[in-house]
Amino acid sequence: MALLQKLFQKTLLTNLRAYSVKNLQKPPKILITGGLGQLGVECAKYLRQKYGQQNVILSDIIKPTLDVANDGPYIFADILDFKGLQKIVVDHRVDWLIHFSALLSAIGEQNVPLAVRVNIEGMHNVIELAKQYKLRIFVPSTIGAFGPDSPRNPTPNITVQRPRTIYGVSKVHAELLGEYYYHKFGLDFRCLRFPGVISSDPPGGGTTDYAIAIFHDVLRKGHYQCYLKPDTRLPMMHVRDALKALSEFLEAPNEILNRRCYNVTSMSFTPEELADKMTKYIPDFKITYMPDARQEIADSWPQVFDDSEARRDWNWNPKVDLDNLVELMMREVKDKIASNGF
Ligand SMILES: NC(=O)c1ccc[n+]([C@@H]2O[C@H](COP(=O)([O-])OP(=O)(O)OC[C@H]3O[C@@H](n4cnc5c(N)ncnc54)[C@H](O)[C@@H]3O)[C@@H](O)[C@H]2O)c1
Repeated sequence: MALLQKLFQKTLLTNLRAYSVKNLQKPPKILITGGLGQLGVECAKYLRQKYGQQNVILSDIIKPTLDVANDGPYIFADILDFKGLQKIVVDHRVDWLIHFSALLSAIGEQNVPLAVRVNIEGMHNVIELAKQYKLRIFVPSTIGAFGPDSPRNPTPNITVQRPRTIYGVSKVHAELLGEYYYHKFGLDFRCLRFPGVISSDPPGGGTTDYAIAIFHDVLRKGHYQCYLKPDTRLPMMHVRDALKALSEFLEAPNEILNRRCYNVTSMSFTPEELADKMTKYIPDFKITYMPDARQEIADSWPQVFDDSEARRDWNWNPKVDLDNLVELMMREVKDKIASNGF
């Protein structure tokens, strides 16, 4: 039995090694699902610079803006349509799949059946697809994969995960399914648990969205009404760091990875602390607080995320701290308002 197990482990590692080496010889062909959300468009830009414009295909079920359509390959892909996905992988000779399609925490609570379909059935489709065509597959998870029973300050990589949102439940399901396919079939599954990701693009309906909305509202109207209490501490990261983490992790050789799922973060702050930093740029803006249902979600999430395993195993090292983040967001949101009017 032990001998069989050893043989199986060896075959698994050899498969993964052969796969990694094969892919280093030419740039990978990458498909991004759910690519028109907050992370997808920026991610495509970032990876196109690295691997070539034609090697990164954005996909979603919504119509792209002219800018997105002109920026590189864009196709329709519904993650609930398995055959449609098969055709794309075959026709475009896809090597890596970045699976972004999801309903986020606040939106998911408003439409649980749809969240189950998109987040859980969709995951079943992409993971089977990745197995069938031997793709490397990246699936983001989240601080929302933890719950009120998890230690919140700090939250380690391995601990109790009993989330209370359908979003969190679907992400724990994705993590476990991915790990299972890795152990059972040698699937090259990779997963990062991101904190709230902050960028100038409109957010997708998560609980950490306030940290983006505050810049837009303050720059346009001079005030912001926050849906969380002033002292609600949550882990956060600028999109630059999220894409750096994703790209470095995707390229990490399998041999150095001790896990398939890693916590990553850059900082933790409260609405009050963020607003305080912003007064350096706009001294007299007004912030008021009116907590809604998202407060309960935030109260069950990690306050400080322990990403020491990612730092140790594949040298994860964030670059943007809170001061840099505020400086970047002030500039980026101003530019966005000037060019788009939103
Ligand atoms: N943004 C964050 O702060 C954050 C933090 C942690 C993890 N994540 C994860 O990163 C991923 C991307 O996040 P985001 O903020 O860009 O999300 P988003 O909500 O902005 O975008 C999700 C996209 O999925 C698409 N989609 C919905 N149903 C689909 C279907 N049937 N087929 C194909 N596409 C479909 C939507 O059209 C949308 O463009 C998600 O999986 C999310 O859980 C995001």
